[in-house]
Amino acid sequence: MQKKLEQLRNDALKAIASASGEEQLQGIRVRLLGRKGELTALMKGLGALSPEERPSIGQLVNSVRDNIESTLEAALNAELERVKCERLQSEKIDVTLPGRNAQVGTKHPVSLVVEEVCEIFAGLGFSVAEGPEIEHDWYNFEALNFPPEHPARDMQDTFFVENDLLLRTHTSPVQIRTMLKQKPPVRIIAPGTVYRCDSDATHSPMFHQIEGLMVDKGVSFGDLKGILTVFTNQLFGQNTGVRLRPSFFPFTEPSAEVDIACVICGGKGCRVCKNSGWLEILGAGMVDPEVYRHVNYDPEDISGFAFGMGIERIAMLKYGINDMRLLFENDVRFLRQF
Ligand code: DAH
Repeated sequence: MQKKLEQLRNDALKAIASASGEEQLQGIRVRLLGRKGELTALMKGLGALSPEERPSIGQLVNSVRDNIESTLEAALNAELERVKCERLQSEKIDVTLPGRNAQVGTKHPVSLVVEEVCEIFAGLGFSVAEGPEIEHDWYNFEALNFPPEHPARDMQDTFFVENDLLLRTHTSPVQIRTMLKQKPPVRIIAPGTVYRCDSDATHSPMFHQIEGLMVDKGVSFGDLKGILTVFTNQLFGQNTGVRLRPSFFPFTEPSAEVDIACVICGGKGCRVCKNSGWLEILGAGMVDPEVYRHVNYDPEDISGFAFGMGIERIAMLKYGINDMRLLFENDVRFLRQF
């Protein structure tokens, strides 16, 4: 019995020493110490020993069991530690590596122009006004002196929503909404989206405009030219040439189209200005007395001017963009350049 126990201990310690992996170690535990294990079987044989032998053999059994258990325990702990180290090694994070930057977007050139124009006019005492994109015929046309059936309505290809509702074709209705809400003096600019049934290389069915309106006692055509000269010089650079050409709009009289000296060739003539040396950037004029009648202003008492410009066109001139479609394709390689 004693020999068997010593043999078992030696075999067990060898097996433990040469085992690899937790599974094998657990296997050894079951094989020796489990309910049907080898040591357990020997212990069951203790009852057959003589009373003299029993104490010493009993002691030996306990010592063999303790020995195997503690060796197994140590081997298992060592194995767990090894596995943990291996995992820490393979999952190592180098906290000194540079981080990945979050990609930051850029402002769209149309937004940049809106912001800059608003800022320039803020400096001239204008505040920002807004109006709805789905508009009533009355604000978009009627109050701006486009009577029904008037051929001037053909200047703007309208998207109709239903009966009297349409997508505004320009930001001019914001003039009307502002004057109905507010008595003179008025000094506003109104940036916004407008819609026209028109689409080719130089026209988009959706685009942006900024409307301007100044009404007060004694506002003259000279004030209009002065304000627009200050504006164009700030937007396109000092001493940018400005000229006004007579034109027609139903809501202004007299009306003008405003040109700046070509920003590409400086006025010498090039492909962009079609060799004229000038670029048209906005429409303007003195508010027609008929418009004042619709908003209950007294044209004998006050006067004023209005102007409107297309933002895409200004962005193209300012940033040298040669195709308007680039502004709507939203290709990040294009947009990141601003
Ligand atoms: N609303 C005009 C258009 O879309 C632009 C315009 C011209 C606005 C003259 C004005 C103005 O306020 O006075 O073509």
